[in-house]
Amino acid sequence: MCEKTRVEILDGGAAIALTSSTGVTCRFHAVWLRDNAWDENTRAPGNGQRLITLGDIPKDTSISAASLGGGGLHLTFMPENRMIAYDLAWLDDHAYDKTAARPKGWTAPGIETWDAQLANRVPVGDFASLRRNPMDLRDWLDDVRRYGFGKVTGGPVENGALFEVAALFGHVRETNYGRHFEVRTEVKPSNLAYTGLGLQAHTDNPYRDPVPTVQILYCLENSAKGGENMVVDGFRAAERLREQDPHGFDLLTRYCAKFEYAGSSGVCLRARRPMIELAPDGELIAIRFNNRSAAAITDVPYEHMADYYAAYRRLGEIIDDPGMEVTFKLSPGESFLVDNTRVLHARKGYSGAGSRWLQGCYADKDGLLSTLAAIQLKDRKAA
Ligand code: FE2
Repeated sequence: MCEKTRVEILDGGAAIALTSSTGVTCRFHAVWLRDNAWDENTRAPGNGQRLITLGDIPKDTSISAASLGGGGLHLTFMPENRMIAYDLAWLDDHAYDKTAARPKGWTAPGIETWDAQLANRVPVGDFASLRRNPMDLRDWLDDVRRYGFGKVTGGPVENGALFEVAALFGHVRETNYGRHFEVRTEVKPSNLAYTGLGLQAHTDNPYRDPVPTVQILYCLENSAKGGENMVVDGFRAAERLREQDPHGFDLLTRYCAKFEYAGSSGVCLRARRPMIELAPDGELIAIRFNNRSAAAITDVPYEHMADYYAAYRRLGEIIDDPGMEVTFKLSPGESFLVDNTRVLHARKGYSGAGSRWLQGCYADKDGLLSTLAAIQLKDRKAA
């Protein structure tokens, strides 16, 4: 935390400027500070939820007095004539007076994009340790957040054991495929995932809105020849496309593709979303890529369609580049999970000799991140 040494009222009380001993100045607006007060009349002391609406704060709210003391910032708001104290560390953590422009496709702090080199340091957790030791779980979840991918070894070889992996951090998301789905050869497959063919790397279920944000695949048998699993970082693929073809990257972020699945009776799932999704401020937030469920793209203007297709093709080539993939073969009792909004997964082809039986299910990334953040918060409080 920078030590704050000076506070100055700006614009007749509409804002303040806090300057640290290192000379760094951060400005905060009066309305923002009033809205983010942590006094017991503004926030519930128990759960921290805000007790007021913005309408409860006068439109002409302003700061009439500001001082530093006792490790905090003390402000008087008018016309309420209310004095509120602020924690300087909290203000440091939540400062928004930043000028650095970020390129389109920037990734959030703590996200690390990767290619085949990750094979040497795949995030792996031991099932028993993850269940027993919150610190091991924290480190593994942190890696999953960072890389969008993680393996679990040493799990039970039991039908339904994948639910215990989901229970490490959250809850299963049930879909029309059931609470879980079987991935094994079928004589008459209704979905190509259930045959022995190899599959191009893809994100699952882009035809849902929202998509399942976590997928778990758990191995129960794997004596067939081949059938390795493979993962590719879609964020890295998008970064490479941006480097090689900025215009194509822009087209894939600006226009929606369409996805559809109607392969089972009573099901017709459709979604319209970009293949590369950015937040309004340019943050790279999701990849959707799945040749099997791509529907006709109708929302790209005629004059851009040829370039759009060229970029779509180039993105596929980047995804198919062996230099991008991490490949591994799961043994019974091993599983992996991917952030399905980021990391693509694939299966190499396998022969009919022997058997391959995986079970898969979906879960939610917000639950995973919540479990991680709650452990980290507890750590901080204990420190
Ligand atoms: Fe899949």
